[in-house]
Amino acid sequence: MLTFVSTLAWRQSSRFCHIRPIKHATSNVLSTKTSSVTGSIFEQIPKEELAPKTRPRLRDREFLPGSTGEGFPEFLAEPSDSFPVGVRVNTGDKSSLSELGAHCMEYIKKKLTNSQAILFRGLPAETAEDFLALTQGMRGKPINYEGGTTPRPEELQNSGIYFASTEPGEYTIELHNEMTYVKNFPRKIFFFCLKEPGEGCGGETPLARCSDIVSKLDPEVVKKLGVKGVTYVRYLPDKSRSDYMPWQHQFYTDDRKAAEIRAQQRGNTVRWDDNGDMYLTYTAPAFLSHPVTGEKLWFNQITTHHCTYTKALPHYKGYDLPDEKYPCHTYYGDGSDIEPEVLQHIRAVSWSCATGFRWKKGDLIALDNLNVQHGRMAFTGERKILVHMTAD
Ligand SMILES: [Fe+2]
Repeated sequence: MLTFVSTLAWRQSSRFCHIRPIKHATSNVLSTKTSSVTGSIFEQIPKEELAPKTRPRLRDREFLPGSTGEGFPEFLAEPSDSFPVGVRVNTGDKSSLSELGAHCMEYIKKKLTNSQAILFRGLPAETAEDFLALTQGMRGKPINYEGGTTPRPEELQNSGIYFASTEPGEYTIELHNEMTYVKNFPRKIFFFCLKEPGEGCGGETPLARCSDIVSKLDPEVVKKLGVKGVTYVRYLPDKSRSDYMPWQHQFYTDDRKAAEIRAQQRGNTVRWDDNGDMYLTYTAPAFLSHPVTGEKLWFNQITTHHCTYTKALPHYKGYDLPDEKYPCHTYYGDGSDIEPEVLQHIRAVSWSCATGFRWKKGDLIALDNLNVQHGRMAFTGERKILVHMTAD
């Protein structure tokens, strides 16, 4: 029964296709796409231009855990003047996309620590290949998605460009920092809008400053999580029991020992059960100090990886699996359960710190992953956002 339920759920839900790679052809189109750069090419755009036409409702939202509980905000806040910072890129005809990427990175280096999120609008970029050219010009150290929560074909190993999410559009992805459950988490994240959702279709990317979350959390919660940290447990079935993200695909081998070693290299502790299913455990602080500002930051995936998140998803409705048979689960770092009221508090505070902006095709947003949590509002229709992550 468990096998059936797990397999069905894994197949039906792409909950853990959180980041899925895309294949991009080598193209010389990039070298011919040009624009001029004279003086400053960046001009701040008013926050009204970033605001969704309709504020997304949060309270009582379907498939969003905690939304009916205490303290949950009614609506997602609109962008402020400084979060995210929106800039229009005034391009001409002399710079390649790669050069524009370099200019964007110069701006990012100057501004991102203070701004935490910078949206570039007006870039002459329309395709995944264009996004790749921009990221190549940025010259960051790409982080592949090894250790992530999605399968990834090996031939795309070095692309560095992924689909941000292929999860069903009907549910909302909770706020989270990226890849906090492995040692080599990204420092910066770049999202690129390949296809914007239609008017009134949702799909906004909510953002929250981690420093804001820390300042609003109950000091007792901060203290307890500061002492105990958080433990992430992941469940990777044997491929004979599920065709969705079995450990053999995740680690590109059928050799159990080799998979174990690779998991350990990423900081994970490995456990196997009698069915050949793999469990990864990783314990980390729930906070970190920003390397530049020294600020204490909320940095974890306590709620998105907690089984209550998965349980709220439509494809898991009606199932009652043991907590560790859901794809991810979290505990305090000493292995004790995180209290429901603490989860509710974290969810309510996080969403109360969140703001949402409306995507336009060709938008590129840079996030400081250490100080910004991101998520995704539910949507209807089509929406395609790509992502690139770097270690620096
Ligand atoms: Fe994410």
